Amino acid sequence: MHEAVIVSTARTPVGTAIKGSLLDVDAFELATLVVGEAVRRAGIDPDVVDDVVLGEALYGGGDIARYAAIEAGLTNAPGVAHNRHCASGMAAIQTAAASIMTGMDRVVVAGGTNSSSTSPRAKRRKPGTDDVEDWYSPTHRNTPEAPNYDMSVTVGWNAAVKTGLSREDLDAWALRSHQRAVAGIDAGAFKEEIVPVEVTRRDGTTFSFDTDEHPRRDTSMEKLAKLRVLHPEIEGFSITAGNASGSNDGAGAVVLTSREFAEANGLEPLAIVRAWASVGVPPAETGLAPVKAIPKALDRAGLSIQDIALWEINEAFASVPAAACQLLGIDDEIVNYLGSGCSLGHPIAMTGARQIITLTHELRRRGGGKAVSAMCAGGGMASAVVIEVPAP
Ligand SMILES: CC(C)(COP(=O)(O)OP(=O)(O)OC[C@H]1O[C@@H](n2cnc3c(N)ncnc32)[C@H](O)[C@@H]1OP(=O)(O)O)[C@@H](O)C(=O)NCCC(=O)NCCS
Repeated sequence: MHEAVIVSTARTPVGTAIKGSLLDVDAFELATLVVGEAVRRAGIDPDVVDDVVLGEALYGGGDIARYAAIEAGLTNAPGVAHNRHCASGMAAIQTAAASIMTGMDRVVVAGGTNSSSTSPRAKRRKPGTDDVEDWYSPTHRNTPEAPNYDMSVTVGWNAAVKTGLSREDLDAWALRSHQRAVAGIDAGAFKEEIVPVEVTRRDGTTFSFDTDEHPRRDTSMEKLAKLRVLHPEIEGFSITAGNASGSNDGAGAVVLTSREFAEANGLEPLAIVRAWASVGVPPAETGLAPVKAIPKALDRAGLSIQDIALWEINEAFASVPAAACQLLGIDDEIVNYLGSGCSLGHPIAMTGARQIITLTHELRRRGGGKAVSAMCAGGGMASAVVIEVPAP
């Protein structure tokens, strides 16, 4: 078996959907930018790229990866779009690594792209009638304990209830997430991974969007405590806009090659993809699904929780990483060290790629080590990827 190594990374800053900087930049433009930049940073000839695999979760079909491949000058690389809901960007990297490890491909660009600001609103003919209705792809059958389109109950609340996490626990997690993301921005921790987006405003003027804009400098326990819960009719409900992830825009991509290809072409492996796992659980337990995916991925890597120096467990809601830490005995000090969904935001199909990119760069600053990137995904799923950054 070959080893799959990450030789370059590029991501846009994360924008706040509808109110933010990427309001009028669609997922195709974002994808093209990061695919092209990841290849440019790798310093490879675009013609050696065998494939482009991109996560997309909101665009309702179509092959956004082929679009980005052509636009980024990778005409000879075909392109395939992946959808595992929130874990789509992670699924793309898993697929790319698998293809390299089996020796089928040598160089693959993989990641994810998301524009909540411009996601299409679909319509379809209502079955049994000639009427046309608004339509949004269901993740699973709608039930009271797992509403189909309301993840605050299906994911956030159910995970908090099952693990006894209070509103204060969730708000404290969210506050620390913002504090860490802001500290990371101020320390320049994200500079190396970000490719700025040149944005044209509606009046024709332009600006360079180069910094994640979702983290809040001014938040506090007092402000978080004042936010209204999303379901006041449910007794004790604790999920608010403050301890939920945001609605966001952004894209991220990495170039993966075999170790042999990297060595033959003088490319420095930034990280090695060691193992991964994806799992299914009942939809009402989606928020706890990382608890199943993480040990499975670690087992495949031949590692245990104690071997991991750094974690990102996506804050789809603050309850998700808090529950995983509680149930798996993970030290939360080394989880979401630079923030996560509550603060940096959760651009659905980008997030898996963004997490792997951010962990890679942070581990390099620390002189190497192993990290796990994990996340739940709508419909009762979760994925986890184990990476290792070699010591310099
Ligand atoms: C939770 C959610 C519905 C909130 O949407 P929203 O109402 O547009 O969110 P906003 O950012 O406008 O926040 C609402 C209010 O809370 C405030 N707020 C949000 N986060 C805050 C924080 N950390 N500190 C202080 N105030 C905060 C906002 O300022 C806003 O106040 P305002 O109404 O006075 O302007 C939306 O972010 C969401 O759906 N998140 C989950 C996404 C999801 O399910 N992803 C998939 C995961 S499985």
